[in-house]
Amino acid sequence: QKDVKLRPASGDGERGARVRVLGRVHRERKQKDILFLTLRDGYGFLQCVLGPPLSKSYDALTMTRETSVEIFGELCEVPAGAHAPDGRELQADFFRVLAAGKAAGGKDAITNRVSAGGDTQTLLDLRHLTLRGEVASKVMFVRDAVEFAFHTAYKEERLRKVSPPALVQTQVEGGATLFKFDYYGQNAFLTQSSQLYLETCLPSMGDVYCVEKSFRAEKSLTRRHLSEYTHIEAELDFITFDDLLNHLEAVVCRVLELVMADPVVGGYVKELNKDFTPPERPFLRMKYADAIDWLREHGIPNEDGEEHKFGDDIAEAAERRMTDAINRPIFLTHFPVEIKAFYMQKDQDDKRVTESVDCLMPGVGEIVGGSMRIFDYDELMAAFERTGIDSGPYYWYTDQRKYGSSPHGGYGLGLERFLAWLCKQHTVRDCCLYPRYMGRCTP
Ligand code: 4AD
Ligand code: MG
Repeated sequence: QKDVKLRPASGDGERGARVRVLGRVHRERKQKDILFLTLRDGYGFLQCVLGPPLSKSYDALTMTRETSVEIFGELCEVPAGAHAPDGRELQADFFRVLAAGKAAGGKDAITNRVSAGGDTQTLLDLRHLTLRGEVASKVMFVRDAVEFAFHTAYKEERLRKVSPPALVQTQVEGGATLFKFDYYGQNAFLTQSSQLYLETCLPSMGDVYCVEKSFRAEKSLTRRHLSEYTHIEAELDFITFDDLLNHLEAVVCRVLELVMADPVVGGYVKELNKDFTPPERPFLRMKYADAIDWLREHGIPNEDGEEHKFGDDIAEAAERRMTDAINRPIFLTHFPVEIKAFYMQKDQDDKRVTESVDCLMPGVGEIVGGSMRIFDYDELMAAFERTGIDSGPYYWYTDQRKYGSSPHGGYGLGLERFLAWLCKQHTVRDCCLYPRYMGRCTP
């Protein structure tokens, strides 16, 4: 007898052998004297068939969904179908309920709790239970694989992983979205981005990356903004803007290649996002100024309901309409200085714009923001001045421009947005375990 995880089988040698399986009852169905239990254990599903006398026992007659059970029996081949997805089932000869007995049934049954109310907020209150759903758990499996693939891709590119602090006293992406708190009597913030710290690592470590939480006190409810999200950031030394774009494209494509090559997780992506095909390379490269023209030509207004003009922020709705219409990844580059962060390097041929890039994906819009960084000390001080940020607390950042400055750049990718695109989820809230956004900090 062998213990098996309920992994999707592929011609395994387990068939015909007596096995023991442990799992939770995902679905149960009675047909005459036979009880069919679909077990779930996080690795897969297995249909178990309990005939008499097993099906007449008290525990079988009162079986509820989510109950943890141990079942012994023989694995048999059956025609693949809804209940035996991978063409095998277990003919049980013994079973027992594990732990403290059966999961709640009747009006307290998990399905009743989750469907009662049924509105989005109730479902989010019950996230600890809805996470068990098939779609929710597949998204989490893909998330696990994507995060791991980024580590692999960065290691292949010889980047080193570092772990910058989350508690900081400097902003990166504007004061409006800072979470402030009292730090032993001083003002401090939850980090918005690890970028500035990554920059300080270049002289000692070469190219670096991190996968950390970033925090934004976003005061609007949208389908792509969280208060706490997983930020994958990289910083590269001695590069040009073109190098930055090429690296970003290569990493995104390598991650997709790794994820899709995994037979289980690649399959989940295809189930969640039926039309998914890896994007064509090179990604479309489009300058901000050309995007403004595109928006004008297509009659898509700016936030004030007027025609887009150079210098306007491209708001979420307009950005998404354009990305959806073009329907492929876009590197949108060369944003005007005024609408971008203080640290961005200007384009030497057109000082009105920065060497900046947003990577836009159909269905979501921006999933990456990056740029070359100002590496000249005086220019950086002028940028602090222009944006009204006190450079005092940034002494450790400006020092980088005094002691061996270099042309460098980097980017940050929002993991939940990447997943919303890859798994075709309506909102980033469905792409993290327990979403945090304005008004929600539970469970
Ligand atoms: O464009 P952002 O603000 O850029 C930065 O933070 C840079 N300092 C990163 C860098 O160069 N190292 O954020 C980068 C990405 C966005 O493109 C988006 O995917 C994600 O982070 N992001 C959010 N994701 C979820 N909820 C939010 N509130 C987010 N804000 C940004
Ligand atoms: Mg951005």
